[in-house]
Amino acid sequence: MPYKLLFVCLGNICRSPSAENIMNHLIEQAGLSNSIVCDSAGTSSYHIGSPPDRRMSAAAAAQLGIQLRGRARQFVKSDFQEFDLILAMDRDNYDNILALDPTGQYHNKVHLMCEFCTRHNLKEVPDPYYGGIEGFNRVIDLLVDACEGLLQEISKQQLEA
Ligand code: 4NP
Repeated sequence: MPYKLLFVCLGNICRSPSAENIMNHLIEQAGLSNSIVCDSAGTSSYHIGSPPDRRMSAAAAAQLGIQLRGRARQFVKSDFQEFDLILAMDRDNYDNILALDPTGQYHNKVHLMCEFCTRHNLKEVPDPYYGGIEGFNRVIDLLVDACEGLLQEISKQQLEA
């Protein structure tokens, strides 16, 4: 059974699709496509069915040469069972996810994405939606750092298992 990761932000058109696609890129480079699979979702319903924001896609293409694939969907309660690890982009996302788990049984599956950063000190991936292009570039930088740390952590855990 592959290890399943779910990246979550508010709209599922900027940060979490970037995280999903960057992680898939690293997983492919590492030859681990059969062992780790990724998806993403938003806590809101605002953009259900939409492709990634074109400013975000432009930043991913310019900085990493990757295309952002996928369509926005909303986080649903069954995602708690479906996924092994749920990565929230910011504290609001984290709180909104956990609000759907009132008994706290899935609490340990939910983490802030920036916990896995090794080069950046930020605690959250800032929402770039209402800002300029530099915000989108910063999201890519942060997510590359966090995804690299996350892949290392998962690889370590799987060796120990
Ligand atoms: P995301 O960015 O959560 O990274 O996908 C946003 C996308 C849309 C909105 C806010 C943030 N919005 O308010 O519509």
